[in-house]
Amino acid sequence: MTIANEVARRRTFAIISHPDAGKTTLTEKLLLFAGAIQIAGSVKARKASRHASSDWMEIEKQRGISVASSVMQMEYRDCVINLLDTPGHQDFSEDTYRVLTAVDAALMVLDAANGVEPQTIRLLQVCRARNTPIITFVNKFDREVQEPLDLLSEIESHLGMDTAPLSWPVGMGRSFGGVFDLRRNRMRVFKAGQERRGGDDEMIDGLDNPVIAERFGDAFAKASEEIELIQEASPAFDRQAFLEGRQTPVFFGSAINNFGVQEVLDALVDFAPPPGPREALQRQVQPEESKFSGVVFKVQANMDPAHRDRVAFVRVSSGRFERGMRLKVARTGKEIRPNNVVSFLSQRRELVDEAYAGDVIGIPNHGVLHLGDVLTEGEALQFTGLPFFAPELFQAVEVKDPLRIKQLRTGLTQLGEEGAIQVFRPEAAGGALLLGAVGQLQFEVVAHRLKTEYGVDARMMPSRYNMARWITADDPKELRKFMQANAANIAYDVVDAVAFLAGSPAQLRVAQELYPAIQFHAMREHG
Ligand code: G4P
Repeated sequence: MTIANEVARRRTFAIISHPDAGKTTLTEKLLLFAGAIQIAGSVKARKASRHASSDWMEIEKQRGISVASSVMQMEYRDCVINLLDTPGHQDFSEDTYRVLTAVDAALMVLDAANGVEPQTIRLLQVCRARNTPIITFVNKFDREVQEPLDLLSEIESHLGMDTAPLSWPVGMGRSFGGVFDLRRNRMRVFKAGQERRGGDDEMIDGLDNPVIAERFGDAFAKASEEIELIQEASPAFDRQAFLEGRQTPVFFGSAINNFGVQEVLDALVDFAPPPGPREALQRQVQPEESKFSGVVFKVQANMDPAHRDRVAFVRVSSGRFERGMRLKVARTGKEIRPNNVVSFLSQRRELVDEAYAGDVIGIPNHGVLHLGDVLTEGEALQFTGLPFFAPELFQAVEVKDPLRIKQLRTGLTQLGEEGAIQVFRPEAAGGALLLGAVGQLQFEVVAHRLKTEYGVDARMMPSRYNMARWITADDPKELRKFMQANAANIAYDVVDAVAFLAGSPAQLRVAQELYPAIQFHAMREHG
């Protein structure tokens, strides 16, 4: 098969949802329907119990299982589907944002009782900013939930995009009769149960079929009225509008009962786009180019503290990856020749022989690869768009035993490179290192990991800062002037980008007013 053919059959997506909406359940069912796993329960079993342990232990567990389950590849209908997991805990949303830069589409799962929830909104903003096409699955219709019409208008107002329902629920909860497939004009009758694969589902043709009307009574009468209404009022599904992120196709179902899952899998194959071109600073890179290129969008420390090796997750942007090929790290010019690169076929780590645009490969390394690094066959490319968000919480960090200061620095550098936390080095001499986080739990996880992985007892102390903005200026002289005048508030991050740290929004505002030549950025893009 040519590279272009391989690219055309790739679909790479992530599921976004608020915790508990059913992401794990749906992931498992998608794998089951694609034949990538045999028994329901195997993904679920990996999800550590939410309730039994403290939150950060939970995150540790997630980290442990996440190398194996963070990318799942499956084949379905001649397509190779890559499903990228997004960390569940909200304090790790920064990591999630970066995962979203590596996908070509997103599947949004909503709990039909709760509609669009806060965490989904944040993730959606990232998708919207990138115009990522979104497929929507409204889950849990086997329960008493919100009215489908209300759910659609809620989605529309939060997403700022049109909805195009492709199926419609008949009843809900106890009276849930099934979903009406609006494209094929037939009803899939609901049957509870976890083991079915959908092949034996009962289908009844025709919206005007008296058999349906009689069997599902009021629920159907209501559904057919609603269907009439939406067919008049809302635009039909328009693939172009979907691809441009202006319209989302909506499906209804019940993941736990394997119901409505097939439609979602088919929609991914039929509607979701294959990998497209990627913007680099130098030029646009086409996925079917013969030369390999890829970006590190995630770095995961291994669980084995004795080895301290890390896996860099690389999304292939172009060309063909072959085991043993020489690759150049664009940032450093270093050559690597990774032999034990892993792919993630149906959740087993397997050695990869070849990979194409849209695929994700895992490269074990000892710190050679950082977040945002670009790998090529020699060309100096820098891709844009990997976001780092300005931290909202700060703590100063010191080591209890001064003899271990070196270990502290090594540990923090590595955790910083992994994206677990942001580390700022103050300009002022003698200042303690500052840790910046988006969520409070990141500090606890870092303290725990410093101890277990680097043997460092770190002391976290309150910091007088709670905002950071990366600063740039068109005129370097202006930047220097600003840095001198505000030396006590200047710090450098892991890649030596300069940031202004403020104690309050007011302080930031004052600085902005006094120095109009300086640009303050809440987000830094790698590159
Ligand atoms: P998450 O990954 O998004 O956090 O959600 P997860 O799949 O773990 O699902 C959250 C809860 O919702 C689980 O219940 C799951 O069984 C349930 N669930 C998922 N899909 C459906 C559905 O279609 N209908 C109904 N009624 N429930 C659904 P739990 O009690 O938290 O866990 P468990 O005891 O079932 O494992």
